[in-house]
This record gives sequence, structure tokens and C-alpha cells, in this order.
Amino acid sequence: MSAALPPTATNAMSIVGGGAAINLKTVLITGVSRGLGKALALELAKRGHTVIGCSRSADKLSALQSELASASDGKNNANKHIVMNVDVRSNRSVEELARAVVEKKAIPDIIVNNAGTINRNNKIWEVPEEEFDTVIDTNIKGTTNVLRHFIPIMIENKQGIIVNMSSGWGRSAAAQVAPYCASKWAVEGLTRSVAKELPPGIAVVALNPGVINTEMLQSCFGSSASAYPTPESWAPRAATLILHLTMADNGSPLTV
Ligand SMILES: NC(=O)c1ccc[n+]([C@@H]2O[C@H](COP(=O)([O-])OP(=O)(O)OC[C@H]3O[C@@H](n4cnc5c(N)ncnc54)[C@H](OP(=O)(O)O)[C@@H]3O)[C@@H](O)[C@H]2O)c1
Repeated sequence: MSAALPPTATNAMSIVGGGAAINLKTVLITGVSRGLGKALALELAKRGHTVIGCSRSADKLSALQSELASASDGKNNANKHIVMNVDVRSNRSVEELARAVVEKKAIPDIIVNNAGTINRNNKIWEVPEEEFDTVIDTNIKGTTNVLRHFIPIMIENKQGIIVNMSSGWGRSAAAQVAPYCASKWAVEGLTRSVAKELPPGIAVVALNPGVINTEMLQSCFGSSASAYPTPESWAPRAATLILHLTMADNGSPLTV
């Protein structure tokens, strides 16, 4: 990965939305099989951006490939989306993703480290060891695996924005979800520290998406999750925020 990388093809094009020209971007999103990641991927595809999406459920990924093409609806990006089976807990799996995007010359302008998981509601001494490990391996080590393999690519490309999905519970505390809170506080600290390491042209932020009715929310809120907004109603606001991030946001804890 030491050869000079070509600028992303999408950089050259732009669309006009809300009066301001917005460059078409290539956006890598982890955890696109459902929930926030899937809704964001479809929203970005609808706006003409190219999506690189990954998660573990192969059947949902192949359905998503067609949904992304339909969302693009005859636009230039319709056949450019890439979906890949990746487990972010595996450094090797993320490395393969990085190799694939370089080979396909689909260097991401923006990365959304969205893949995440939560423990079943339980006091910390009742959380099984494997479950605690899964939360840490996915939310902290998974995010870091992506940073490890993609920051060098962004540095070579001399530009990039990274969004690490945090949580209100990365800035506050709650009973029954201590492993999840610990992991998201770590994402906040990781983000602020990495922000100090990045060269000019590259920025990283921690993003609290708000409280949205997904499978994850249903796991911790039970039936009251249905009182919260859907991922589809969240995605337009999130997409606009993410597409307008700049170097000035580097290190910031933001909220949709
Ligand atoms: N919903 C909320 O209210 C809320 C609030 C605060 C923060 N968040 C954060 O927002 C992000 C998305 O949450 P969500 O509510 O959309 O959760 P979700 O509905 O449970 O979706 C999680 C996504 O992550 C993927 N994923 C999980 N483990 C993975 C792994 N090891 N490798 C690759 N992909 C993996 C899942 O796909 P597979 O299982 O197919 O791999 C799925 O697509 C998370 O980081 C979460 O912590 C959500």
C-alpha cells in the first residue's frame, strides 16, 4: 500500500443540494445489514454518493447490494457500490477490506465506524465473560482495526473524514449496560487522542446518533423502543451532518 493512490473518481463530480454544491463522496460504513448503518447507506446512495458497506450477515448483504442500486435509481453511482462480508473484530478481515478497496480504486472520502453491539441488560457481575469480550472486541477493537488499516490509506490520499459512532452512553452512565458504556467512553477517548495524531487534511469525530428504534435499542429499552424515531427518519439528518464535516471538527464529540 505504499504506491501513490489515485484520487477517488467521485471527487471530480458534484451535485447541487440545498443551494450549495456538494462533492459526491465514497463513504465506507461498517455494520450495514440493519439499523442505522443500513439506513445511512441507503440515504447516501439516494443522494448520489458511493457506498462501501460491510457486516457479517451474507444474506442481508446481497439484498442490500440490490437495494443500494435501486436507491441510486439510474444515477452514476448505481453500479459502484461495494458490499463485503467483514467481521470488524478480526484485524485480518478488516485488512482484506482495505486491500479490496485499494484494488478497486474506491478510496473512501468518509468512513463511518458504525458496527456495534450491546450486552444483554445485566449487572456487570452477571455479564458472562464472552459477552463482555464481544462488546469490547466489536466496539473498541473493531473501530481500531478500521483506523489501523484505513488511516494510512487516507494519509496517502491526503484527505479523509472518520466518524466513530459513539452514544449518549459514551458521555453518561447507566445501570445494566456497563460494558456498552465502557466501550463507548473508550471510543470517545480513542477519538480525541487519534485526532491529535492525524496530519492536516484528515479529521476524526465521535458521533452520538441520538436514540433510535433499532434492534440494539429494543435490546436495552424493550417495548418502549417503539416510541423513538425510525432509522429511516434519522438517516437524512445524519447524512447531512456527516457530509458537511470539516477539518474544524477534528476531535469533536458531536450529536445528530
Ligand atoms: N440505536 C440507537 O439508539 C443508538 C444509540 C447510540 C449509539 N448507537 C450506535 O450506533 C451504531 C449502530 O447501532 P444500531 O442501533 O443500528 O445497532 P443494530 O441495529 O444492532 O445494528 C448493528 C450493526 O452492526 C453490525 N455488526 C455487529 N457486529 C459486527 C461485527 N463484528 N462486524 C461487522 N459488523 C457488525 C450488524 O451486522 P451483522 O450482525 O450482520 O454483522 C448490524 O448491521 C452502534 O455503534 C451503536 O452503538 C445506536
